[in-house]
Amino acid sequence: MTNVYAGASGAAVGHNHADFVDLRSDTVTRPTPGMLAAMAGAEVGDDVYGDDPTAIALEQKVAETFGKEAGLFLPTGTQSNFCALLAHCGRGEEVLVGRAYHVYSYEAKGASVLGGIGLEPLDVAADNGLEPETVAKAVKGNDPHLPITRLLSLENTVSGKAVPLTRQEAAAAAARDVGLSVHLDGARAFNAAIALGIDPKTLARCADSVSVCLSKGLGTPAGSVLCGSKSLIQKAHRYRKMLGGGMRQVGILAAAGLYALEHHAPNLAQDHQRAEKLRLALSEIPGLSVDLSPLQTNMVLLQTRDVDAASLVVALKAQGVIASGSGKNMRLVVHRDINDDGIDRVIAGFRASL
Ligand SMILES: Cc1ncc(COP(=O)(O)O)c(C=O)c1O
Repeated sequence: MTNVYAGASGAAVGHNHADFVDLRSDTVTRPTPGMLAAMAGAEVGDDVYGDDPTAIALEQKVAETFGKEAGLFLPTGTQSNFCALLAHCGRGEEVLVGRAYHVYSYEAKGASVLGGIGLEPLDVAADNGLEPETVAKAVKGNDPHLPITRLLSLENTVSGKAVPLTRQEAAAAAARDVGLSVHLDGARAFNAAIALGIDPKTLARCADSVSVCLSKGLGTPAGSVLCGSKSLIQKAHRYRKMLGGGMRQVGILAAAGLYALEHHAPNLAQDHQRAEKLRLALSEIPGLSVDLSPLQTNMVLLQTRDVDAASLVVALKAQGVIASGSGKNMRLVVHRDINDDGIDRVIAGFRASL
């Protein structure tokens, strides 16, 4: 498996943001002046006492957007997924999850290490979804030698690709048929909904819980919201406290989230258009092999033919482009802090470097 977080990165400590186009991730997006003003003016309380009005407003807003009863604000997507898994499963129970998904590959197996929950990896199909048959086959029978399969954990988008709704729902239905619950890691759920041409409610309707990140492509400094039924969110709330995720005047961060939902989320389609432009331009450069498959969002996945990604990363840095990659693989992430000029600089940088 390729680790998208490993390998060379053109980042340098203290680099001046204005001098570089940073394609490492959409998590690098920074708060805008409007967002900072909203944060400075946020009405706050103490969220551990449950009286921070801005945090409550954000939780309600995200829950409503995704068609769920309740929401819970957490500092990160990792903690949000972790609390969801803990709320769904008991010790000795297991979660079926795509092998390439963040919950399996990039969360340090926290659910197993700290939660006593087994993670059973499933092979992912070409569209990054799960075949219903793969789900059905992985469910364990009632046998004391085996763990109790409790949950299916889906993801959308996966590596920047939107999983088709029919595929996602077929996998969820296969899980439900045998009594499993369903969690959706929707770290980039808004990107998925845009690419699929559906609203966020429709995207999440097959899931009992959905985790949505506000720190990816939306400019907020931190924050994710886990949504689900009131009883599930009550359980997750207890785990958030246990994990040290109970924050106090967190309305300052929640205000950034509310601002992002209103002002930044509606513009995510522009990132997809710019990523498409970049994909097409790079596909014409000899020496690169670019993934042009459908339903992609804000990421450009490519392979280098003759040079290693690491040396290309160094060459790009000299052209003012910060990228990362390992072996022959590169993932370029387009986001709201990269405008049309930035895309042109990236294209020119690749041409000059190869
Ligand atoms: C699909 C997916 N889920 C969850 C996460 C975890 O988010 P965080 O970095 O906020 O813990 C990420 C982070 O990049 C992600 O890409």
